Amino acid sequence: MKVVKVGLLGLGTVGGGTVNVLERNIEEISRRCGYQVQVVKASARNINAARICRTDAIQLTDDSNEVINDPSIQIIVELMGGHEPAKSLILEAFKQGKHVVTANKALIAVHGNELFAAAAKNNVTLAYEAAIAGGIPIVKAIREGLSANKIEWLAGIINGTGNFILTEMRNKGSAFEDVLKQAQALGYAEADPTFDVEGIDAAHKLCILASLAFGMPLNFNAVYTEGISGVTPLDVTYAEELGYRIKHLGIARQNPNGVEMRVHPTLIPEKVLIANVDGVMNAVMANGNAVGSTMYYGPGAGADATASAVVADIVDICRQLDSSASSHVPALGFLSDKLETPAIVPIMDVRTAFYLRLSVQDKPGVLAAITAILATNEISMEAVLQKEPKQQGADAQIILMTNTVTEKSLLLALNEIESLDSCNGPAIRIRVESLQEDT
Ligand code: NDP
Ligand code: HSE
Repeated sequence: MKVVKVGLLGLGTVGGGTVNVLERNIEEISRRCGYQVQVVKASARNINAARICRTDAIQLTDDSNEVINDPSIQIIVELMGGHEPAKSLILEAFKQGKHVVTANKALIAVHGNELFAAAAKNNVTLAYEAAIAGGIPIVKAIREGLSANKIEWLAGIINGTGNFILTEMRNKGSAFEDVLKQAQALGYAEADPTFDVEGIDAAHKLCILASLAFGMPLNFNAVYTEGISGVTPLDVTYAEELGYRIKHLGIARQNPNGVEMRVHPTLIPEKVLIANVDGVMNAVMANGNAVGSTMYYGPGAGADATASAVVADIVDICRQLDSSASSHVPALGFLSDKLETPAIVPIMDVRTAFYLRLSVQDKPGVLAAITAILATNEISMEAVLQKEPKQQGADAQIILMTNTVTEKSLLLALNEIESLDSCNGPAIRIRVESLQEDT
């Protein structure tokens, strides 16, 4: 059996998981790719720290250049995270003719255009299946499985930590901070968990998915991003009363004016499959003009699940080792000189329905005043709930679902509503998506 030597940059959750999966499934993997895959070197900041994998056969170093510069290593697996030194190390690996596998969505989303070009220039591969939706082979599904289609839209729960938090809040009434700590202990969260909570991690992934789906260069700055930190248990409960679940979604859609890319909490009808994707599970719906709606489901974070995607990329690279670069699948699925840069639809022009919650004085005529303003702004209501105050003198809650409107017109109406004397504080607003075949 031929041997391929692999060097790891980073030996934390995903690095350790990768070593474990390669060891556990060594026979299956070599039967698939024709190589015995050996991890021979790994870098970490603290080489004396406890690891989740065996390290007796691996040379550990705190100098990542030692891994890159080892001439026996053909494949570098970058699992340290962050922009630097990861980017410089990867570029150096390319120069030395090494293929690279990464799970680093932050790096791909922000520097992917440069990195893919550098990989192509050096006739090597930069593989990144693990960067999106953990163990779900979503890159392969969109890039290869759906290559016959013009993809119209995709929508996904693409952050495991965020979905875990929302699920525990709904099912157990757990406090946000407590669930976040659990997600960190389970190895789901990013090194900086605000990336999970504030939607930045999901925005990184959505940016990559949109480029794969629509054949456009990566454009992270164009993703509109809101996290889940503003989602309250009260809104989770009221959404349920209306027959909806609140999920943190990444949505990319082609419309006649360009491409929408947005990440935000979203109400989804509870009967839609993706509304029932709970815990650390992720799911991505992709709608193609030949296949219709498809959905891909699986664990979105964690050591073994993510390692499954990392190792699949290693297997792919092994299969390519003896073939010419021109026969390889393009990094984003479209020929690099055929990528097109579309107009980006600003969030103000995006059309969705809205869930609104208004804290108001408990007196007659308030609902009538609010509905009059909505009507003047040509916004209609699809549902209304009115909740009496919990104690005398406290605010009543009015919960409304609007029809589909532009963000711009909704905000104009809300401006007027919020300036009513009877309205206390800004409205809570959450976008609503039906995620039907033709949305
Ligand atoms: P960890 O923090 O668990 O592991 C990071 C590893 O990199 C550690 O071993 C750390 O060393 C090492 N490291 C960090 N900086 C350096 C440096 N400058 N030089 C040498 N080694 C360094 O992170 P994860 O394994 O969770 O994540 C790794 C990557 O995978 C990230 O890009 C993340 O976004 C991505 N990812 C993570 C998923 C998950 O479920 N955790 C899922 C999908 C992708 P030391 O151990 O000594 O601190
Ligand atoms: N922190 C990320 C998440 C890891 O929770 O989804 C997987 O990309």
